[in-house]
Amino acid sequence: MSKLFNLILLTLVLVLFVEAGKHSKKSYDKGKSKTLINKKQKQAHCYDDIDSPYVFFGTKTSYRWNRNKNDDEVTPPGCVAQQFWLLARHGSRNPTTEDMIKLKSVLPLIQSKIISNHKAGRGSICKDDIKNLEKWKFHANVDDGELLVKEGYKELKGIGDRFQHRFRTLLTKPYVNSSYIFQHTNTERTNASARAFAKGMFGKKNIADVFFQKSSNPDILLRFDQVCDKWKRKVQANSDAQIERTLFEESDIFLSMIQSITHRLGFSSTLNFSDINLMYTMCLYDKAWHPKKLSPWCAVFSKEDLKILEYREDLELYYENGYGFPINYEQACLPLKNVYDSFRRVVDNISPNPKGKFYFTHTGTILKVMTRFGLFKDAMPVKHSNRELMKHREWRTSLISSFGTHLALVLFNCTDGHYVTAYVQERPIKLPGCTNELCKFSDFSAQYEPLATSCDVEETCRI
Ligand SMILES: *[C@@H]1O[C@H](CO)[C@@H](O)[C@H](O)[C@H]1NC(C)=O
Ligand SMILES: *[C@@H]1O[C@H](CO)[C@@H](O)[C@H](O)[C@H]1NC(C)=O
Ligand SMILES: *[C@@H]1O[C@H](CO)[C@@H](O)[C@H](O)[C@H]1NC(C)=O
Ligand SMILES: *[C@@H]1O[C@H](CO)[C@@H](O)[C@H](O)[C@H]1NC(C)=O
Repeated sequence: MSKLFNLILLTLVLVLFVEAGKHSKKSYDKGKSKTLINKKQKQAHCYDDIDSPYVFFGTKTSYRWNRNKNDDEVTPPGCVAQQFWLLARHGSRNPTTEDMIKLKSVLPLIQSKIISNHKAGRGSICKDDIKNLEKWKFHANVDDGELLVKEGYKELKGIGDRFQHRFRTLLTKPYVNSSYIFQHTNTERTNASARAFAKGMFGKKNIADVFFQKSSNPDILLRFDQVCDKWKRKVQANSDAQIERTLFEESDIFLSMIQSITHRLGFSSTLNFSDINLMYTMCLYDKAWHPKKLSPWCAVFSKEDLKILEYREDLELYYENGYGFPINYEQACLPLKNVYDSFRRVVDNISPNPKGKFYFTHTGTILKVMTRFGLFKDAMPVKHSNRELMKHREWRTSLISSFGTHLALVLFNCTDGHYVTAYVQERPIKLPGCTNELCKFSDFSAQYEPLATSCDVEETCRI
């Protein structure tokens, strides 16, 4: 029955195909140049036809693509979880107001040029992609700069809910004030993220009871980089620190990407990167706000273009927050000390001890702390010149610094002593110095105690 159906379908498709061929031949006779264009446009890259488009956009990647939906209880044999520690980035947010003003004012101009290019037969964007682009309008409110969006709220709520399920004998409901510490930076997006996580973990009924510590200013635990003069001067405000990214932007790979986008969109003079970046920005925020919806602006880019743009950000953040400069991670010892000291107290049976400590912060903090822990370190540095070699790099911000990214550490009491497991994006990960994901506390301690006890941020950050 279904075979017959398939046969009929196939025949139908063939007939249509032949008919379409005849038709295009007819119009070929009528207007040679027009058909040539149509033919070219038919062969074109058509984003609308891609069922699972590329969704890795560096730090603006949706958490959806990194989450772990398996929330089975975690029970290493002979162990009970004793303490849970979390450092999380906020969820998906709006762009800055400055960026939104640009998106709202400049993007419509680019949009209408692309459409008129297409109408004039220039470029190779397919008809459906043009149709999608024609319908686009900037919807967000420019005054809501950097606010957590609905999807971001869902991301954090889901993480809280799933971790509660995994550690249900430790992170028990209802919420008990003395058992938990919640803290976030002084921004709406981390505040709202902390509340979303708490709601996922303790439920709607309990959320009103959850106590959130007053964020400190300056925030030396969760925004240590903002008070680290040495880092601010030598890295953040120093364009030489970004030489690898700059060289990559000047490389043949990058320049030919710009050329091919220019041609694809039918422009006669080469687009500048600021225009391309604006289209990219809209594409990635669209996909962060509505991960499963098509973004007309993503149609501008081929998968390879997106990988090139992704590499550009990986390079930037490697030198801004990662292994590129020692000051990036040397200043990040306080969060490490926080969890180390906290676990040590439990191991030494010093009470009182909270069951859970939850901190909500930003990309710059998370990446520096992950680097301080020695995570995602490649055998060689990420450079403008070694993209091919680094194809399978650990340092991929799409995977380690998406919205909702987090590092969680759990202390277990087992029949033969204490153990620690680290989780990134809800999956266990082996820490340096450990033989397994479930790591002996003595190994954990040998690796990290020296970093905790020598932590002197003021000294480290002195110029
Ligand atoms: C909850 O605990 C915090 C200290 O972590 C304290 O400041 C606060 O007053 C407590 N709230 C209630 C309702 O007991
Ligand atoms: C955090 O958000 C809550 C709820 O929206 C608000 O009442 C509170 O003032 C905010 N806290 C800070 C420190 O902004
Ligand atoms: C990029 O090109 C546009 C015109 O397409 C122009 O308005 C804009 O100023 C240029 N930006 C830079 C940074 O050169
Ligand atoms: C760890 O568990 C053992 C039983 O397996 C118990 O005797 C011990 O007191 C626990 N240690 C701590 C620090 O809770």
